[in-house]
Amino acid sequence: MKKAKLFFILTLLISVSVSAETGYDLWLRYNLVPNKRKLEEYRKVLSSIIVNGSSSTIVAAQAELLNGLSGLLGKKITISGSNTTVGDLIIGTNGIQPEIKSLLKADLAQLGSEGFLIKTIVRSGKNCIVITANEDAGVLYGSFHLLRLIQTGQPINNLNIVSAPKLKLRLLNHWDNLNRTVERGYAGFSIWNWHKLPTYMDKRYVDYARATASIGINGTVLTNVNANATVLTNPYLEKVAALANLFRTYGIKVYLTARFSAPVELGGLKTADPLDPEVQRWWKEKVDEIYKHVPDFGGFLVKANSEGQPGPQNYKRTHADGANMLADAVAPHGGIVMWRAFVYSDEVPEDRHKQAYNEFVPLDGKFRKNVLVQVKNGAIDFMPREPFHPLFGAMPQTQTMMEFQVTQEYLGQATTLVFLAPLFKEVLDSDTWRNGKGSTVGKIINGASQQQQLTGMAGVANIGNDFNWCGHPFAQANWYALGRLSWDASISSEQIADEWIRMTFSEEPKFLEPVKKIMLESREMYTQYTMPMGLHHLITYGSHYGPAPWVDKGQRPDWTNVYYHKADSIGLGFNRTSTGSNALGQYATEVQQQWGDPNTCDEKYLLWFHHVPWTFKLKSGRTLWDELCYDYYTGANRVKSLQEKWNLLKPFVDKERFEEVKMLLQIQYDEAIWWRNSCVLYFQTFSKMPIPAGYEKPDKTLEYYKSLKFPYAP
Ligand code: GCU
Repeated sequence: MKKAKLFFILTLLISVSVSAETGYDLWLRYNLVPNKRKLEEYRKVLSSIIVNGSSSTIVAAQAELLNGLSGLLGKKITISGSNTTVGDLIIGTNGIQPEIKSLLKADLAQLGSEGFLIKTIVRSGKNCIVITANEDAGVLYGSFHLLRLIQTGQPINNLNIVSAPKLKLRLLNHWDNLNRTVERGYAGFSIWNWHKLPTYMDKRYVDYARATASIGINGTVLTNVNANATVLTNPYLEKVAALANLFRTYGIKVYLTARFSAPVELGGLKTADPLDPEVQRWWKEKVDEIYKHVPDFGGFLVKANSEGQPGPQNYKRTHADGANMLADAVAPHGGIVMWRAFVYSDEVPEDRHKQAYNEFVPLDGKFRKNVLVQVKNGAIDFMPREPFHPLFGAMPQTQTMMEFQVTQEYLGQATTLVFLAPLFKEVLDSDTWRNGKGSTVGKIINGASQQQQLTGMAGVANIGNDFNWCGHPFAQANWYALGRLSWDASISSEQIADEWIRMTFSEEPKFLEPVKKIMLESREMYTQYTMPMGLHHLITYGSHYGPAPWVDKGQRPDWTNVYYHKADSIGLGFNRTSTGSNALGQYATEVQQQWGDPNTCDEKYLLWFHHVPWTFKLKSGRTLWDELCYDYYTGANRVKSLQEKWNLLKPFVDKERFEEVKMLLQIQYDEAIWWRNSCVLYFQTFSKMPIPAGYEKPDKTLEYYKSLKFPYAP
């Protein structure tokens, strides 16, 4: 009796743990297609795969298809080699059947090295789907695409899909330290277990590579931009090589951050001056050593002379001198250098907004061919909303690439549901006017508006060793969005959300439609109750967690918040027009006209560019003060209604993730009230105006909010 009971409990435990949705599988869950009609259709089309080729990449594609299709279709899928003629799905590149290859020649010509073709052809009187490409990585991307079609319920009867990435470099930037802490990481510790590498290869590395490749990302920078030179030493290069060997299969190249002072720290040289021949020799030898370990090493990402990091300016050299020295070292091996434009100095009394532009524009045309200047989307620092960075389009002789932040440093970290695709798209679709109307940021970085050989987009990763990788179940969508947009920036936010929800949760319309709405409005909602109308940098000192507009002391003036909002008895906002810092003057004339007048400036950027009187009338008819209160109160109320909407979705989602999101939404609501009350009470000390009638008064004092401390915030 006792034994039977124990068995029952064990079985229950096993079945619970098997069906539990931890979020670990991300968007690659491959559960049985829920729609019976569609399931029947797919089953009719697919039952066997003919695999051409035996490279590890082709084997990975085969494994993914086998695993994915058997899960989705709930039936056995057979695999056969190229000697068979009967099969529903044929994958491969060079080894592919010659008659198929000649049939598809014209399509293949458009694909480049990473694109893929998925086409239904008739063979031996039977329809079959071909996934082919010029290189094996393309077959892998195509395989993930076919799986996505099924996961999202698309028809697969008559396919003709030609897809090639619009950008060459599609990267994740991990701000991971060698001790496994993650700078601005909110999802646990680093997934790179440096201590156990290279011998112990965590299963996560494979799943990371699968997920990353499935959305078209082809490179990963393993280490923090605030770099540690130790990663360039032999024992660590062995660890890097182990990861690179695994990632190669998935078309992912490995890059490292280079600490500029490494020649001094590791090499014992007296200087790291980029024009010093000894220093140049040191880097060349170091790079040769790296390539011995990792023959296809991608290159370096460098943060120099920014926030205390060493760089060429320590030796009175320019960013171009520094970048070119490293570029020359990696060039013989085909490597590149991504040199960050995120630079600002506390010794320069200039608006921080202007500093990167001032330093980099004079260097236009001075960078080597294998250098890209990596520019954050906005000029300050990944705020919930920033106008696009004025450097985009302002350096026509320089290759620039995009840096987005996927980890939600300033967007609620891992306690907040914010879908970032609308933010990414807003920047990419912004018109720089540098080459006439329509020269959007997206077209600058993809080379359409500005000639450049190398093109790219990077996202600061939100990945850690949490069960669900990203801390918040919905934060996974931001990793997904980065990949999809770096492959093709023309995909809409709505489509990205739609795909992601179907793959990650459910395609049940009663779930899909409301969740899509929630995701699409989430960034606007967050901005409204934290930093509306172009307010920025109102966060806690150091951890950047939560509101602290009152911060007026810091290591440097531009690490305070009063520096940015400039509230006083007259009004609020940073005058960046010609009567102020004139950061606006760094944009094209048309853009200056668009934002230069507070009466016509898009209100979402109003306080970014203008110091506006408290009584200033907005389009709504409300005064600035009333509008500010309106935004804080409306934004916080929207979180309440978001909670209610989520609660209604309980029948359509697994218990685990339902509860997880529910708890997180409660934190989000509490934080929204905290933002609202802190900011309204604080700004009221300047406006001296009452909180409009009808809004509940904050139940705590400003002093209370100021006293809150979070010494262990991540
Ligand atoms: C932000 C962030 C830092 C980071 C820096 C960077 O300032 O808070 O932690 O190092 O960006 O992008 O280099």
